[in-house]
Amino acid sequence: MSNVQSPKSGARERETSSANVQGASANVGHWTLDVGQPPADVGRSTLDFGLSVTDLRKSFPTPAGESIEVLRGVSFSAGAGEVISIMGASGAGKSTLLQLICGLEAADHGSILAGQFAIERATSSALARFRNQQVGFVFQFHHLLPDLTAAENVSLPLLITRTRRNPAIQRAAQMLAEIGFDTRMSTSVVGHLSGGEQQRVAVCRALIKQPALVLADEPTGNLDTATGDEIARSLISYAKERGALVIIATHNRALAERCERTLVLRDGKLYDA
Ligand SMILES: Nc1ncnc2c1ncn2[C@@H]1O[C@H](COP(=O)(O)OP(=O)(O)OP(=O)(O)O)[C@@H](O)[C@H]1O
Ligand SMILES: [Mg+2]
Repeated sequence: MSNVQSPKSGARERETSSANVQGASANVGHWTLDVGQPPADVGRSTLDFGLSVTDLRKSFPTPAGESIEVLRGVSFSAGAGEVISIMGASGAGKSTLLQLICGLEAADHGSILAGQFAIERATSSALARFRNQQVGFVFQFHHLLPDLTAAENVSLPLLITRTRRNPAIQRAAQMLAEIGFDTRMSTSVVGHLSGGEQQRVAVCRALIKQPALVLADEPTGNLDTATGDEIARSLISYAKERGALVIIATHNRALAERCERTLVLRDGKLYDA
């Protein structure tokens, strides 16, 4: 088997693919996630020319002073509107790969091009701007702020770029309402919500700025089947409506099967499933 470079054909969701749209709404079963108008500060998508990852290598030092090679030459490319799942055993390097793609970790070797933006050569401030304007990240362990309300957590990406508080909170509450949150849940501190509710907050936070690239690390990890299914559908619909690239690391085979392409990380390399 060789490293992956091209999409598999016959994709289930592909026929619904569309270019970037303004004021999109994503159908998510009985929820409709209205992603609204793109925020004013989101310029032309950096991903207009897709994502291209070449010969990525990453090692980590062990406490014993040795080094483990987690990624040993990972290459793949993907285009806007695609939904890709990345599977692989625990410890295979899925989270590491997602973190390299958005520059949260630095690679030891290789290149990552988001359109014409070279992640590995970017300054930390350019990377921060890229992440804020172009990337929505659903973290494996949420990384929500437990003392803030659900709506405050979702609004954070807007507040960071100086959207005024009231419109930001209103927009966040509207998104949460669209995925079934009532006022009590939106105004609860996140620490009082269930794991599944927190995961839905994390997805809304990742999508509120309409990112061109969504990196979702185990987005259905804590969810019952029905809620997991709705989250999966919302991410897939989002990709199609916004023309965004969505990459989902998951152990959930049912979720992976709904993505148009599944890649598997094994022994530090990426293969077609
Ligand atoms: N900052 C770090 N320092 C040292 N080792 C690390 C670091 N981050 C990850 N690792 C190691 O790299 C390997 C890959 O970790 P990673 O979190 O990417 O796996 P994963 O495929 O996401 O696993 P899971 O399915 O359990 O989430 C693991 O052995 C992990 O211990
Ligand atoms: Mg992981």
